[in-house]
Amino acid sequence: MGHVGRTIDWADGTVVIVDQCALPAEHRLLRLATVDELIGAIQRLAVRGAPALGAAGALGVALAAHRHGTDTAAVHADAERLATARPTAVNLRWGVERALAKLSGGTDAVLAEALAMLDEDERVNREASAHAARLLLDTCARRPLRLLTHCNTGRLATVDWGTALGVVRQLHADGQLEYVLADETRPLLQGARLTAWELAEEAIPYRLLPDSAAAAAMARGLVDGVVVGADRIAANGDTANKIGTYGLALAAARHGLPFVVVAPSSTVDASLPDGGAIVIEERAPEEVTHVAGSPVAPKDAPVFNPAFDVTPVDLITAVVTEHGVVAGTAR
Ligand code: MRU
Repeated sequence: MGHVGRTIDWADGTVVIVDQCALPAEHRLLRLATVDELIGAIQRLAVRGAPALGAAGALGVALAAHRHGTDTAAVHADAERLATARPTAVNLRWGVERALAKLSGGTDAVLAEALAMLDEDERVNREASAHAARLLLDTCARRPLRLLTHCNTGRLATVDWGTALGVVRQLHADGQLEYVLADETRPLLQGARLTAWELAEEAIPYRLLPDSAAAAAMARGLVDGVVVGADRIAANGDTANKIGTYGLALAAARHGLPFVVVAPSSTVDASLPDGGAIVIEERAPEEVTHVAGSPVAPKDAPVFNPAFDVTPVDLITAVVTEHGVVAGTAR
C-alpha cells in the first residue's frame, strides 16, 4: 500500500483529500473544486478529525477566494457556511478565520496562509505527540507500553502524523510500544476502518476491540495508559472528543491508569470557561439503526446519536499540546 502523503492538500486550484468513506476497501483521492463539494465531504466524513477539518476550513476559504475574486461578501458567505458545516471541532472555524484574515491581501495571500497552516499542522502534531510520549514513559512503570486509543487520531485525522496515534507512532519508532488496543468506535467505526488501516500500513502491533470491551481490557491488566485526541478543549481543560471517550476516562480512573489527551493548541477554545457550553453534533439515526446499509433495529426505532461527549478535566491526567501539558490532574 505504501505511504500516501498528506490527507488533505491543494493541487491545481482544487482541494485534494483522501476519501475516508472509501477506506479500508479502497485508498482513493477526491478532487473538490467547489465550496459545496468540500462542505458535502466534511458532512459525510470523507474528510474528518479536528486538525484535518482546520486545514479543510482554510483551504475552503482559498477555494472561495479563487472563485469569487474581489467579491469579498461572497467569500465571507462561503466562509460562514464552511465554519458551520460541523459544530463541535473548533479547528474548523479556526482554520476558516485564519485564512479569511488574509483576504485583504488578495487570493494568493489566502492560499499562502492555508498552505502554511498545512506545514504547521504536521510540525505541531509531532511536537505534541513527543511531549505526550515522554509523559507516558515518565508515568508508567511497565516497558514496553501497552496503550488503548479511541476513534482515529492518526495522519488521516490531521494533515500528517497524527495526535494520539502520533504518540503511538513515536513510541513504536523508539522501541517503547508493545501494542495498541484500538477501539472500533461505534457507530461509524473510525477505529476499525481508519486506525486499524493506518496501524497495519505501518506494521505497528495492534488489536481491534469492540468499544464495550475497553473497560474489560483494563480490568484484565492489558492496558498501561489511554491516549485520545480532542475536538474542542475548554479553558479549564474539559475535553470534547468522539462519543465513548468519557466512558474510557471513567474506566481509566477506576483502574488508576493515566488518561492523556493530545491535540494541537488550535483545538483549545479559550472562549469557553468549561465544557458545558460545547455544542455536541447529533448525527443521523441511520448511523445507529443500520450497519453497512442493512437495518439492525426495528424500522423507525428512536435513536440517541451524539457524535461526541465531554470528559471533565478531573478525569484527565494531562491535556498535551505542542506547548506541553496545558491542563489535567498532573499539571
Ligand atoms: O467525527 P470525527 O471522526 O470527525 O471525530 C473525530 C474525533 O473525535 C477525533 O478523536 C478528534 O477529532 C481528534 S483527531 C486528531
